Amino acid sequence: MNILLLGSGGREHALAWKMAGSTLTDKLYCAPGNAGIAREAECVPLDITDHPAVISFCKANAIDFVVVGPEAPLCAGVVDDLEAAGFKTFGPTRAAAQLEGSKGFTKDLCRANNIPTAAYERFTTAEAAKAYVRKQGMPIVIKADGLAAGKGVIIPEGLSEAEAAINMMFGGGLGEAGAEVVVEELMVGEEASFFALCDGENAIALASAQDHKRVGDGDTGPNTGGMGAYSPAAVMTPEMTRRTMDEIVLPTVRAMKAMGSPYKGVLFAGLMITAQGPKLIEYNARFGDPETQVLMLRLMSDLVPALLAARDGQLKAFDLRWYPDAALTVVMAARGYPGAYERGSVIGGLEAAGEVEGVEIFHAGTRTDGDKIVANGGRVLNVSALGKNVTEAQARAYQAVGRIDWPGGFCRRDIGWQAVRREKSGL
Ligand code: AMP
Ligand code: GLY
Repeated sequence: MNILLLGSGGREHALAWKMAGSTLTDKLYCAPGNAGIAREAECVPLDITDHPAVISFCKANAIDFVVVGPEAPLCAGVVDDLEAAGFKTFGPTRAAAQLEGSKGFTKDLCRANNIPTAAYERFTTAEAAKAYVRKQGMPIVIKADGLAAGKGVIIPEGLSEAEAAINMMFGGGLGEAGAEVVVEELMVGEEASFFALCDGENAIALASAQDHKRVGDGDTGPNTGGMGAYSPAAVMTPEMTRRTMDEIVLPTVRAMKAMGSPYKGVLFAGLMITAQGPKLIEYNARFGDPETQVLMLRLMSDLVPALLAARDGQLKAFDLRWYPDAALTVVMAARGYPGAYERGSVIGGLEAAGEVEGVEIFHAGTRTDGDKIVANGGRVLNVSALGKNVTEAQARAYQAVGRIDWPGGFCRRDIGWQAVRREKSGL
């Protein structure tokens, strides 16, 4: 098959790496891609927000299957447009992608279907939201309804910070995303990233992962897109996985079908594992980044037939196999990230780093400049490794990090610390 992958981050490099090895893949394209993806696929400089241009490319290159990486094109309806033009596409339609695109939509769906999540209310005016916050008291969580590139969730320290967050959102600080606000209960527990492939009717669980959202060691500092991840997540025991499927994922799939917007694609549930069991923090309508980097290392089965089965409504009898090894990825970011950072610094040592046993380096934001690889984003590299446990995967990943010569970059030094501590204490 000729396959087109849309996106340009570390998630897409991991997907491209896995799909390039598929027996079904004849030719793999990626738009727009990056310097690392160029090793697995032919990168094409398409503007993926220009749907007619994407469709023309598919026609001209006899594309058989399109796989969409990021949320923005999903929420913009790229799947609807490609399917309408006759191209099989992996990912939810615009209506189904509302599970990520509107937090209020998801919360209402949870309430209507008894799906465990934080208690909440939706607001369209600052006054009403502030009155509710005063009534509920602290702690509380304030969320912009729409897509806000990871900036839409605020956990305020006190009432005045809560009111400031509400004023900021309704004041247009997050653009359209903040025109509606959700205020919800703060849940306490351990977080996990849970993924299920869905075909509109059936769902199968993928492996679990945990990411590190804060920029600094010890989970301190501002939130980021994710500074590292590892899989499996110890909290996702077989029992917790079963409960997540039965209490959260499958009721969602049934509800979306009943609503006339069947969900096809990967459903990424951000979970809080509480004393009462798994509760939904939020949904994403796509693979996680950097979680996908560790999932793809652990996936033994061919990915392409699984993505096709999801698109074709054929997941019922489908099964995926996983390596028992653990995987861990360390994100190397440009100095300054998640604030302002510079592009263009030269990265050396990638070849030597990639020679460390079990290591695979996925590029998140790079481009080639002559014969050099240079940084071209905030999150730039995902130094990833397999190992017999998280401790070994961590040691290998940091050994590879040590071989990378990039004065313009930095990384956290403690990715996987919870799992390493668990393994050390023999739990
Ligand atoms: P999100 O952008 O929705 O993934 O939220 C970002 C982070 O905020 C999550 O990973 C959680 O750490 C935290 N968070 C969001 N909602 C809640 C909640 N209701 N209770 C506790 N933590 C939350
Ligand atoms: N790593 C979290 C996300 O992809 O949203």
